[in-house]
Amino acid sequence: MRIVLLGPPGAGKGTQAKLLIEYLKVPHISTGDILRETVKGNSDIAAKVREIMNKGELVPDDLVTQMVSLRLKKEDASKGFILDGYPRNISQAKRLDEILTDKPIDAVIYLEASEDVVIQRLTGRRVCKKCGANYHIKNMPPRSEGLCDACGAELIQRSDDQADTVKKRLDVYLKQTSSLIDYYNNEGILLKLSADEDSDVVYRKLIEILKK
Ligand code: AP5
Repeated sequence: MRIVLLGPPGAGKGTQAKLLIEYLKVPHISTGDILRETVKGNSDIAAKVREIMNKGELVPDDLVTQMVSLRLKKEDASKGFILDGYPRNISQAKRLDEILTDKPIDAVIYLEASEDVVIQRLTGRRVCKKCGANYHIKNMPPRSEGLCDACGAELIQRSDDQADTVKKRLDVYLKQTSSLIDYYNNEGILLKLSADEDSDVVYRKLIEILKK
């Protein structure tokens, strides 16, 4: 299955994708994760992208599209994928349609979440410095405070999860990304569900709508 996860920052796209890969047996492709790996380098491009991400703005379409196109050509994506964080505007959606001419998207899952919920989730999110596992200080705390359950490394706050940057990211989502809801609804492939509830409840609903 070829799935796109759509929704505001903090809706739980990454969390649900990690659960869904077990069920669908396809890779989770997150442009945010790919970009965060890229900005670890020392090149000029890494510095430029880091600056854009830290401001909560969108990285240029050409760069992200090239990354997605390369990733989708890998063998593991031939049987399907869960795309998280791309497309993020109409231009990227059209580019994705071009990349996938022979094998279009099966479903776009729109995780609808309210603003106060996503602000609380993002400002409380902590990620493992080493393996990238995701936690939340209240909703999904690690067993030992500040340490990853999976590998024991330190948990840190993402630089774009500071309150000011979170507001900027939500603004960018409303102005540039939310128009994709109508775009995919008009194509007849949008599946919508409320993502305000607990993660396991959202996951159960997600499986139910995928089975229909
Ligand atoms: P990206 O990494 O894609 O960030 P995002 O879309 O803002 O999404 P998040 O990862 O913040 O949220 P999520 O919905 O995955 O929520 P999560 O599951 O982690 O992008 C980062 C940046 O990269 C962008 O700002 C941009 O600069 C750049 N970028 C990326 N793609 C791009 C593109 N296509 N074009 C241009 N630029 C691009 O959950 C959040 C927290 O809530 C966690 O702590 C989790 O534990 C908790 N949680 C999740 N679900 C629940 C639940 N149901 N109940 C309680 N807690 C929950």
